[in-house]
Amino acid sequence: MERKNVLSCIQPTGDIHLGNYLGAVKNWVDLQEKYDCTYGVVDYHAMTMPYKAEDLRKNTWKMVFQLLACGIKPENLFIQSLVPEHAELCWVLGNVCSFGELTRMTQFKDKSEQVKDTDKDAFISSGLFYYPVLQAADILIYHADYVPVGKDQIQHLELSRNIAQRFNHQFGKEYFTHPEPLLTKSAKIMSLANPLKKMSKSLGEKHYVNIFGEEARIRKQVKSAVTDTGDNPEGEMSAGVSNLFGLLIATNRQEAHDSLMEQYNAGSLRYSDLKGEVAEGLVALCSPIKERYDEVYADRKNIKRVIKQSSAEIRKRAAQTLAEVKEIAGIMNPR
Ligand code: TRP
Repeated sequence: MERKNVLSCIQPTGDIHLGNYLGAVKNWVDLQEKYDCTYGVVDYHAMTMPYKAEDLRKNTWKMVFQLLACGIKPENLFIQSLVPEHAELCWVLGNVCSFGELTRMTQFKDKSEQVKDTDKDAFISSGLFYYPVLQAADILIYHADYVPVGKDQIQHLELSRNIAQRFNHQFGKEYFTHPEPLLTKSAKIMSLANPLKKMSKSLGEKHYVNIFGEEARIRKQVKSAVTDTGDNPEGEMSAGVSNLFGLLIATNRQEAHDSLMEQYNAGSLRYSDLKGEVAEGLVALCSPIKERYDEVYADRKNIKRVIKQSSAEIRKRAAQTLAEVKEIAGIMNPR
């Protein structure tokens, strides 16, 4: 049987932290067994928010190194700006996407407010407004069957499906595949410092675990994890403790989880024991990833060449789609 196509992309805006890893990237790695996977580091998308040119290129490579360290296969990985067909397809698709549809995208509202929060006179680019069309191009150009995404991207994926449908309808040809979201039950990891909030870099340094960081820092962060937030009704587990138990599951420490849970239920659990196990689990999870990162980084010159090559290979598929699209839509192909 033919393998289905999976596609997903990540913006090169900072490091992969524990929440991203357990919530998304680990899943991407595992999907490579069962599907034909294509993963992109989408630097064109990162241009939609204020940024510095020298940082963007550096962060794009850093994201590539980190993904490889996590276990993404180099042949499945591309850098978006090395496949310029995405941008050209985006233009074509913009014409089968209505202005009204784009105005309904909630992420645009959130992100433009985020920009205004940092500076009330800040510049909101039309790129930010148009970005869901580029995302549709990312997905449709590889005829993706499945797109592993978080809940926050469901609306964009829905838009991609509508765009595919409208293109097919307008030109009277069942050309584009209708991509489906792949919502696997992956862990939702909360901040250790404020377990009522999802782990995120934007909350600040102490809120996220850097999986490429020093072991001592990981241990220290777990030690100072907030356990009682006073948010829980009588007899219910607090968000902080529940997050720590969740981390035991996510780091494959089922046995420790079960025995500590028994202690919790008996009212005899010592948080220091729970934290000790979580710290062991996280260190065991992160140290091979950090080790691989250091290897990849030491070999970065060669790795950059490899990823340019894989991007060139992936580009052939994108170019094929674009040529067909231009044919269908009545525009010219150079050859
Ligand atoms: N918009 C996604 C995000 O902000 C990133 C993204 C861009 C993406 N293109 C994509 C995700 C295509 C899945 C498929 O996280």
